[in-house]
Amino acid sequence: MTVQLQIFRFNADFDYQPHYQHYELEISEKEVVLDILNRIKADIDPTLSYRRSCRHGICGSCAVTVNNKSVLACKENIYQLAQSFGETLIIDPLDKRKAVRDLIIDKTDFWSSYRAVQPWLKAPISPAPAQEHLITPKIAAKIDGADGCVQCGVCYYSCPSVRVNERFLGPAALTKLYRFAADVRDNANRQRLDTANAEPSGIWECVKCMECHAACPKELSPVTKIAKLRQMTFASNNAPNTPATRHALAFKHSIVKFGRLDENANVRYSLGNFGALKHTKEAIKMLLHRKLPLKTPPISKLEEVRTLVALCEETP
Ligand code: FES
Repeated sequence: MTVQLQIFRFNADFDYQPHYQHYELEISEKEVVLDILNRIKADIDPTLSYRRSCRHGICGSCAVTVNNKSVLACKENIYQLAQSFGETLIIDPLDKRKAVRDLIIDKTDFWSSYRAVQPWLKAPISPAPAQEHLITPKIAAKIDGADGCVQCGVCYYSCPSVRVNERFLGPAALTKLYRFAADVRDNANRQRLDTANAEPSGIWECVKCMECHAACPKELSPVTKIAKLRQMTFASNNAPNTPATRHALAFKHSIVKFGRLDENANVRYSLGNFGALKHTKEAIKMLLHRKLPLKTPPISKLEEVRTLVALCEETP
């Protein structure tokens, strides 16, 4: 198959603005995106710059986007991409605003978030232990694959909350934080939950848009780890009293009371009656568009829902 590639080109040292360079190539069914980038660099244009190292989906350095889909270049089959998107493929860096040279971006912000969660085991370990500290597969399963993160940055640069709040730690760092918070061998659980709950950098900045879930090339679902950190926070009885935590509790309150979401009460519960007044304008608009019921009727099978909520609370 012949594909038309449009590759983002930019050199922060010389260029005022980026441009796309066109390459036409024959691709085979077995080639991945990185094979094509390597071919262009070796045979056509040695100035093309991109990161790669392991070529096995382990180092996370080769992440780019193809037609806005975030991929690890060394794992993503380009032939299948061309079948999905058509013969024109646009290859961009993960975040064009951070481009320093072609597909290479400056990940300083990503790494400082990563460092902020202290991604190492905190435990009094002998430098020369007599034996391994083994845990059972059942206990290890609580880590929920979070140790499989390769720090490619795909979730971080896909996250809209990171874009509007540069202090937000982001999905990758919070997944790493969860990896240690859920590890029974780690002794810093309380400190980790404090970091997770700090404002405006912690878990409550996540708006559950699911972008990180869709983007993660390792299918780790960072948003699920953030949700688990929220559950751990409530279970520890140390949840801060903020609009975000009250909003989470308001959902449960509403479901137990009506079996469905009560939007009116949810806002009042989260922000208080005075706080809710700030949203009068939106409320009137919603009422006019019949998006906000004046009264929330309970569902017919309310008792079943209450039983389910009670069961969820019993299950750790
Ligand atoms: Fe290491 Fe792709 S080169 S993940």
